[in-house]
Amino acid sequence: MSTQWLKNAVFYEIYPQSFLDTNGDGIGDFNGIIEKLDYISSLGCNALWINPCFDSPFKDAGYDVRDYKKAAPRYGTNNDLYRLFGEAHKRGIRVLLDLVPGHTSEEHEWFLQSQKAVPNEYSNRYIWTDFCFEPVKGMGFIGGESERSATYALNFFKCQPALNYGFLDPKEPWQLATDHPDAIATREAMKDVMRFWLDHGCDGFRVDMAASLVKFDDEKKSGTSAIWKNVREMLDAEYPDAAMVSEWNCPPLALRAGYHMDFYLSHPGNGYASLMRDYQKGFSISKDSDNSYFRKDAPDRDIGRFLEEYEAWYKDTRDIGYISLLTCNHDTIRPRFNMDMDELKLAYAFLFTMPGVPFLYYGDEIGMRYLDLPTREGGYYRTGSRTPMQWDGSKNLGFSAGCADSLYLPVDPAADAPTVEAQEADPDSLLNTVRALLKLRHSEEDLQADADFEPLVKEKGKPFVYRRGSMMLAVNPCGEAMSVRIPVSGRKPLFTLGTAEVEGDVLNLGAQSFTALK
Ligand code: NOJ
Repeated sequence: MSTQWLKNAVFYEIYPQSFLDTNGDGIGDFNGIIEKLDYISSLGCNALWINPCFDSPFKDAGYDVRDYKKAAPRYGTNNDLYRLFGEAHKRGIRVLLDLVPGHTSEEHEWFLQSQKAVPNEYSNRYIWTDFCFEPVKGMGFIGGESERSATYALNFFKCQPALNYGFLDPKEPWQLATDHPDAIATREAMKDVMRFWLDHGCDGFRVDMAASLVKFDDEKKSGTSAIWKNVREMLDAEYPDAAMVSEWNCPPLALRAGYHMDFYLSHPGNGYASLMRDYQKGFSISKDSDNSYFRKDAPDRDIGRFLEEYEAWYKDTRDIGYISLLTCNHDTIRPRFNMDMDELKLAYAFLFTMPGVPFLYYGDEIGMRYLDLPTREGGYYRTGSRTPMQWDGSKNLGFSAGCADSLYLPVDPAADAPTVEAQEADPDSLLNTVRALLKLRHSEEDLQADADFEPLVKEKGKPFVYRRGSMMLAVNPCGEAMSVRIPVSGRKPLFTLGTAEVEGDVLNLGAQSFTALK
């Protein structure tokens, strides 16, 4: 593949609402992102994922797109966004936009046409039954709001009607086959949107709900996968440097469908959640039962829970694409919720030395807190992970010159709210640790996307030791020193958090430590 740049890519996710407000209206903007590109570079990040920044009524924070080709005026103009691409490229930073192909806003022009009683070009752009009292079986649906005597399928919230890519096995007269010209027209319309932004300088897309296109799919997602393979062919032929990362959470399917990367997302009880968020039972959050692997006092620490899922995926997909591990995202509770700075350092040391392409969520580099806030723009519990970036000790922690009650969300009111400014001055801060870790990753090919990964010691009650290429890494998250017998003689620590020492074929790790041995 010609997306060679992914081999050493480290992404920074920006929730544009909350990054930096340069015009004092209380909400972040494109100019704010441009202003902070040097900061992003200084972290060691060389790629961005920007959450949806298109025209939208913002009932789901922009995941309800009203016009795919128009920048949301609250962030700036299309020209500002093109300038952002250019300024990022000058600094060697690639920019992925967020593509939302499964649904639009109910205010999108396609939907306004589609709901009309008189048939038109867009009648089949969404999934409609053919009678006002006929439900869309098996899916959320809405009736009673359209001129057309029919009900329509939802893909997520009420504001997000599902786009129609056809059905794998149509059973009702109103269900189109996936090769129906109108189903193909939806796919082509989405490719047109992609071409539009790629032609203006964006470098690819994070794809929302990538598995959701063809409804009532078979287990193997063959209908949806066929669409993404077709999209990938277009990219390879026309934009060979462009990359796509999917919100699919199933690398074996997503990478075979043509994605370059797929996220391993946090779901209560899964392997990734066991690392930093093992306090969630369903959607109820209780710190009392926290058994997260990187917690110093985890009662029953077990890296096996992560490895069981991860290794199977890794072995199956290592030759076809990348698994992306994240510190957090805009849908997930920030890791600082239950972990202190020392615990976060170890967790990030692990995440940033694993294979694939890592993602750092804005503000996690300084350990921003999860705040308990009322919902904003359909965020609900996610709102607390979307608060303004904390730059310095000035008004609104440097996020905005506007008045505090005009802000998109309040800034962390704590007296000890972490800021970039304070952490820059402290060599041991989380911020400077992130910088050191990413510098290490960039300096050693063995720590980048492609080098081999093999767990060497993974038993409960022992440190976790793993190999990347010819390097050996070890992490001891617990509050007591531990030793492990393993052929390490002759190896030298290149980078250590806490203490680590090689004594013949014994590796001695201090309490809460990490080391990378060459
Ligand atoms: C996943 C996005 O990450 C989330 O924020 C959004 O609400 C849903 N998809 C719907 O688009």
